[in-house]
Amino acid sequence: MNCTTQAIRIPAEPEGAYEVRIGSGLLAQALDAVAERFPGHRPFLVTDANVERSGHAAALIGESNTEGFVIDPPGEQSKTMRTVESIIAEMETKKFGRDTVIIALGGGTVGDMAGFAAAIFKRGVPCVQIPTTTVAQADSAIGGKTGVDSDLSKNAFGAFHHPAMVIVDCSTLKTLDDRHFRAGLVESIKHAMILDADYFDTIESNLDAILARDEDILCKLAQKNTAIKGRVVYEDPREKNLRRILNFGHTLGHAVETESDYSLLHGEAVAIGIMAACRIAEALDACSDEVGARACALFERLGLPLALPAEATLNALMDTMTRDKKAVGGLPRFILLDALGSVYAPADTFGVEVPPDILESVITRFDKIQD
Ligand code: GLY
Repeated sequence: MNCTTQAIRIPAEPEGAYEVRIGSGLLAQALDAVAERFPGHRPFLVTDANVERSGHAAALIGESNTEGFVIDPPGEQSKTMRTVESIIAEMETKKFGRDTVIIALGGGTVGDMAGFAAAIFKRGVPCVQIPTTTVAQADSAIGGKTGVDSDLSKNAFGAFHHPAMVIVDCSTLKTLDDRHFRAGLVESIKHAMILDADYFDTIESNLDAILARDEDILCKLAQKNTAIKGRVVYEDPREKNLRRILNFGHTLGHAVETESDYSLLHGEAVAIGIMAACRIAEALDACSDEVGARACALFERLGLPLALPAEATLNALMDTMTRDKKAVGGLPRFILLDALGSVYAPADTFGVEVPPDILESVITRFDKIQD
């Protein structure tokens, strides 16, 4: 079933609001939408080899002679300054100037790299995000975080650069492989757990239709995710306090993702991080164990591993978490819940320091992935 196209405007200072257009079959009109929003600009498409193979880049380019850059190999291993330099070198070679509009077509890593290139090319050019994965449609395409990894940590180089427009075409999810599709749903579950218990119920009761990739329910999820994330990033665009709640599950999740050497997908690692956050909140008597039990049941229905890879030892995880850019004074902070849809905020501050003994006992309770 095709859903009706909806537009949600996200206020963003100082650039002014940007539109998130949500629907299905939007790729073929995307270049016209970009030209209408940026008359006289030259589009430069950044995508990756997977998206190219899926046919989405061809659907977007159509008969036009749009130029661009294909990230190959796709994925986190290419999310480096070297790739960003290559993107910029290609634009310079083709004499792109400040009248460029970069179009990021792909998942989170494409969006992060293209957005970062847009933030720094000629001191900043607009970027239109066209996310094609469940992670990117729910989370990374909205909110203006861009960046690349260093050899030691995720997103060590980065900038806040709001997208000029976001086009969420739910039909692009049809070609996403099952593992990425399921793992990316964790970001929607995260939104529900931190701010909207009814949304959690909706995901729980519609999971079969979601997994069958019914476009109507996928569009509803996209609308809900956009509304939730849009509200948070409008109130706190630079992550001074409220925006930290979007990192629910990410403190341990990022460390697990890094230590697994990216053998675990982002969403798989964040699901582990969410379970850890639930268990920490239980240990601190901040939250009932029913919340963790419902999350666990949903993750199990998604077939997520919820176990640590062998290389993610306690010491390695603790070391990586202390290097995380969100650590304060070298100590990791955790977003915890006090109920489903409600973040625990002692003294109105989000991000709680957790006693090391509780953290260690929670981490050591996870099973290890068997080879
Ligand atoms: N992915 C978390 C944020 O955008 O703040």
